[in-house]
Amino acid sequence: MALRVAVTGPTGEIGISTIEALEAHPDVTQIIGMARRPFDPTDRGWTKTVYRQGDILDRAAVNALVKDVDVVVHLAFIIMGTREESARINLAGTRNVFEATVAGGPRRLVYTSSVAAYGYHRDNPVPITEDVPTRGTPEHYYSEQKAACEHALAEATEGSSLEVYVLRPCIVAGPKAPALAEAMPWNQLPGAVRRLTQAVPVLKPPMPDPGTPVQLVHHDDVASAIALAVTTTTAPPGAYNIAGDGLVTMSDVGRALGARPIKVPHVAAVATSEVLARLPFVPSALEWLHAGRASTVMDTSKARDQLGWRPKYSAAETLSALADAVS
Ligand SMILES: NC(=O)c1ccc[n+]([C@@H]2O[C@H](COP(=O)([O-])OP(=O)(O)OC[C@H]3O[C@@H](n4cnc5c(N)ncnc54)[C@H](OP(=O)(O)O)[C@@H]3O)[C@@H](O)[C@H]2O)c1
Repeated sequence: MALRVAVTGPTGEIGISTIEALEAHPDVTQIIGMARRPFDPTDRGWTKTVYRQGDILDRAAVNALVKDVDVVVHLAFIIMGTREESARINLAGTRNVFEATVAGGPRRLVYTSSVAAYGYHRDNPVPITEDVPTRGTPEHYYSEQKAACEHALAEATEGSSLEVYVLRPCIVAGPKAPALAEAMPWNQLPGAVRRLTQAVPVLKPPMPDPGTPVQLVHHDDVASAIALAVTTTTAPPGAYNIAGDGLVTMSDVGRALGARPIKVPHVAAVATSEVLARLPFVPSALEWLHAGRASTVMDTSKARDQLGWRPKYSAAETLSALADAVS
């Protein structure tokens, strides 16, 4: 097999590891990456990859990207942003990628959705399997957009022969994916203040733990799942949950990333979420608090059994690799 692969968002936390996995795969002969900022693949020693600057909002640029490739991997997305800006890029840009891929020549599309597409609902089964509908949570822009993108994907590909693989990773972390650590407010403090808070235990910032379990997956394991979805000749198209083995707690996350965990009743997380949902205006960053109100632990047996995915890192090992990298 000689596969030519187009990748949107190859410079992101998942993108870099994905290109490394594709570069190492014998079946992949050429990779074309596209994102907005300048980037030189030779700086990373990549030999199969060419990079072009382009925006997924620009349909002509997307058409040119997907022309003459076998597989499209769509990673470009705005995760941490305002509701308005992220909606503009994520909904319109993602639809461009889906429609251009259906209209063009590729035979396969690999799209990274997210656990957030399921939404944070009290009646979510535990664990969640891929047949659970992706309802999203309207109060959380990212969850709402991830669900909307899956619906747009179903619409855009209806009746087409495109092979569609949808991966739904949990929170991605590791040395090359520090966004989880960077999102912790105390990591925004100036260096000297931050070092002081870390040196004196009582000064460590409190981190509430409402008892909601957390799944984590290492960026290299997400990349290996994407490489399998690109190259598999046996696993059927469809959705695949992606998470490392085991669970960690918010207290584990807080301790590893420099906070002082404080157990709070689960009802407090639900109440906070319900109050936020009623407010007329909530800053987009606060919408992430809705994620703590219900368990969204995924069953990953389909990825293991059908895709043959074998994550190398457990959730605890992923957290520890992240903590080592950012300490
Ligand atoms: N990280 C996680 O925890 C996680 C978990 C589950 C699912 N996912 C999903 O996995 C995918 C990749 O996530 P990530 O963590 O790698 O994100 P990321 O680190 O924020 O990277 C986003 C990538 O998209 C590019 N991009 C953004 N807007 C673009 C635009 N308008 N046109 C072209 N390229 C654009 C960025 O480069 P430029 O800014 O230079 O354009 C960058 O390469 C996303 O769909 C995300 O929702 C991520």
